[in-house]
Amino acid sequence: MITGKYPSLRLRRSRKNDWSRRLIEENNLTPNDFILPIFLIEGKNKRQEIKSMPGVYRYSLDKLPLIVDKALKKGLPMVALFPYTERKKKNLLGTESLNEDNLVCKALQIIKKRYKNKIGVMCDVALDPYTSHGHDGLLNSGYVLNDETIEVLINQSLLQAQMGCDVLAPSDMMDGRIGKIRKSLDKNGYQMTQILSYAVKYASNFYGPFRDAVGSKGLLKSDKRNYQMDFKNSNEALREVALDVKEGADMVMVKPGLPYLDIIKLVKENFNIPVIAYQVSGEYSLLSNGINKGLVNNNIILESLIAFKRAGANAIVSYYADRLDKIIG
Ligand code: PBG
Repeated sequence: MITGKYPSLRLRRSRKNDWSRRLIEENNLTPNDFILPIFLIEGKNKRQEIKSMPGVYRYSLDKLPLIVDKALKKGLPMVALFPYTERKKKNLLGTESLNEDNLVCKALQIIKKRYKNKIGVMCDVALDPYTSHGHDGLLNSGYVLNDETIEVLINQSLLQAQMGCDVLAPSDMMDGRIGKIRKSLDKNGYQMTQILSYAVKYASNFYGPFRDAVGSKGLLKSDKRNYQMDFKNSNEALREVALDVKEGADMVMVKPGLPYLDIIKLVKENFNIPVIAYQVSGEYSLLSNGINKGLVNNNIILESLIAFKRAGANAIVSYYADRLDKIIG
């Protein structure tokens, strides 16, 4: 309990000087707290700016070391790979997800060969970069099929594990997929491949720029509310996490980030497990555009990122992770 009373107690006393403010600091960020997403694109010699995400680029495979070298040098523990898939490679079933020569598979091999285990690599498990309708799974009259989708996700997981993926991150929100993926990984000799479940993923309006980044924006005709969570709910988040932990998830993700700090805190307080927050594309774009327009200053980034730590996140997926020098000092 907090005791004390004005005027003998003055909280401003400890705020007066910089040294004293530093002394009582409760939260801080280091590079270890970050995961850097990397967008991949076909072709050669490409570092292509994503218009809706100023400062974020898509890299062709020959340019990939540019950004991974940087991540490694800055001390980031992990990068996350996301492919921009060409229209002609997308179809109703998202079969490109199972092509062992797809962008993610090639990138995994390049990274693992060049960096060995010096940096972790995480890959999404979901079909949305590969389907012509932009949904995360197989579609039947507008409904994303659960069990049928899981069968494809199992194969996508095995393929990515085989290519060297360290952390599989199912971001699809199908019921029961963590258990089934874990079981098939174990059966096939991938007992040490980790699973970071996007356990709490809301059907959010903050994903817009990401869909542009992976080339699924114009394709998605409806929303994802029949599988992603309703943003009016929080108890349901605990049920999602409980199931995924029981099914074998090593870590769980809460996504989006800043508007869902209450959920991060709730999950952290109810389960003693690593919780990762995702500062998603819409959050990034809003902050960056606000800064670029001079509406707010650059320190808004640090303030937003510290909020995740305060809420209890162990790490943050952030598009700012390659530019931390200027942000966390
Ligand atoms: C796809 C996926 C999405 C994001 C990460 N994985 C988008 C979606 O579900 O539509 C969003 C990331 C971001 O907005 O930065 N399963």
